Amino acid sequence: MTRSQTALSCSIALALGSLAASLSAQEAPLVQLLPPLPPEQVLAAFAPDKGREQTAASCGLCHAPAMITGKHFSADKWAETVDHMVDKGAKVSDADYDTIVDYLARNYGPEKLAATSPAAGAASGSAPR
Ligand code: HEC
Repeated sequence: MTRSQTALSCSIALALGSLAASLSAQEAPLVQLLPPLPPEQVLAAFAPDKGREQTAASCGLCHAPAMITGKHFSADKWAETVDHMVDKGAKVSDADYDTIVDYLARNYGPEKLAATSPAAGAASGSAPR
């Protein structure tokens, strides 16, 4: 590497560093993170079904259960969300992963939305899905 290349990469690194610093200083929290709720309160917020305990234990620590129970995601989207939460620091063991994703897809899947809002189906009329 020549001397001028070295100088260039140093100034790029400096520019990136200050950019990162200003971004993190301005970043507002997207979710209100909660102090830990009592475990029985977290458990009660989730629909009784196989996998409820594991889901409450892995997903009830950082945000309100309503953040999860208010969603209507497909199984793929739940798997993606759980992966994303693991990146955020959620503890999901390999043994519990499928149990939790299945639980979420079964209880908080898109068909629950259709069931609770018939207007959504009526609005699409006779159009094939
Ligand atoms: C270590 C803390 C932590 C744990 C544990 C955790 N989450 Fe989250 N979750 C977050 C944070 C932080 C956000 C908001 C930022 C983001 O979406 O990247 C979030 C956002 C979400 C959202 C909203 C995302 C959207 O697309 O609207 C859902 C749904 C969610 N989490 C589900 C879960 C599920 C399911 C689990 C259990 C597998 C879980 N979370 C466990 C920290 C956590």
